[in-house]
Amino acid sequence: VSVQPLRVGVIGAGTVGREVIRAFLDRSPRLAPPDGAPLLLTAVAEKFTERAIASGIPESLLTDAPAHMIASGDVDIVVETMGGAEPARTLISAALSTGKSVVTANKHVIAHFGPELERLARETGATLRFEAAVGGGIPLLGPIALDLAANRISRVRGIVNGTTNFILTAMAREGRDYAEVLAEAQARGYAEADPTADVEGLDALNKLVILARLAFGAWIEPAAVGNRPGMTTGAQGAPGITGVTAGDVASLAAEGRILRLIATTRLAEDGAIEASVVPTAVPAGSSFGRCDGVLNRVEVDGVPVGRVAFEGPGAGGPAAAAAVLSDLVAIARGVGSTWAGLPAAVERSALAVRPVAAECVAAPSGACYPVGD
Ligand SMILES: NC(=O)c1ccc[n+]([C@@H]2O[C@H](COP(=O)([O-])OP(=O)(O)OC[C@H]3O[C@@H](n4cnc5c(N)ncnc54)[C@H](OP(=O)(O)O)[C@@H]3O)[C@@H](O)[C@H]2O)c1
Repeated sequence: VSVQPLRVGVIGAGTVGREVIRAFLDRSPRLAPPDGAPLLLTAVAEKFTERAIASGIPESLLTDAPAHMIASGDVDIVVETMGGAEPARTLISAALSTGKSVVTANKHVIAHFGPELERLARETGATLRFEAAVGGGIPLLGPIALDLAANRISRVRGIVNGTTNFILTAMAREGRDYAEVLAEAQARGYAEADPTADVEGLDALNKLVILARLAFGAWIEPAAVGNRPGMTTGAQGAPGITGVTAGDVASLAAEGRILRLIATTRLAEDGAIEASVVPTAVPAGSSFGRCDGVLNRVEVDGVPVGRVAFEGPGAGGPAAAAAVLSDLVAIARGVGSTWAGLPAAVERSALAVRPVAAECVAAPSGACYPVGD
């Protein structure tokens, strides 16, 4: 019996999208799973089609009108790899509202508009998958939602931003100051020209919101996630890693500790969800301490399983594309949305969310960094 192929349209042929498209152009046999429909690339939407043609994408696939591509009926699955808030959110909504499946790598849109997108997908029966949005190529959301489903998860924490991990690793190794290492990271392509989302912890915070949805069944408000360490004065410190000084790094190193930007969410005894993304002083020899450079590492604590850990390439076109392509294969196999099998999310308004309470260690800049293990 021949199975009708699923027609795939990609929006945004940048770092991630280009790698997804390449897998189709190389006719990867993995895109024709034996237990599902074959996947076929039928459209690519890009702002500047000339540049896409020059990069080897056949002109016959290209359009500069993604909304039209979605409305046309020529695609069954939309891959959104353009990034940013708008028009990505509107395009994803448009696809879901007509029952089309969507695969996205966009953590901003999922973290900020997850409640409405989940509601819409459940209403229309459309599938929404977003494995690439957290941990790049590391399979993380699928295992939390599916393979760990019989556990009561109490905490998820991890290094989920490669840029800040690269900067903190270089500061610790070379004793250099934050601004100098940031400039080098930008020159080497590890940090964006506008690094705000990474260095202030906003990117990690979006990923934490998504992890909390799958671990705890609720979409927490990104603004409710703490992203500043405390100060010894009792005030709030600078966001993310922006206040970390070479002096802080050196004084912690003298105690055998290293700073890592750790995103943590846990279920408190009173039922509240605690969530923070702050530079955390961990033992240099611990698993997080040894998680160097642009690697990501996430640990999940649950009962009865205990602690499981995931580590690997958290960013980069090939790694993120691997997650997008695996989501496409999951759709071809009829697996459903990333949250498949879980109850609908708890409404945001019904939730108590607060920063994670933790013991902290004072550093020369006046910051008091939470202590981790
Ligand atoms: N890069 C990674 O390592 C990584 C890892 C995991 C997840 N992600 C996520 O994946 C998404 C894409 O990231 P990326 O690194 O691939 O970004 P990117 O290299 O900037 O690629 C985005 C592409 O989309 C195009 N685009 C933007 N607006 C468009 C529009 N209105 N219509 C058609 N095309 C449009 C851009 O064209 P122009 O260049 O002309 O604007 C660009 O080619 C983001 O949500 C990101 O957070 C990235």
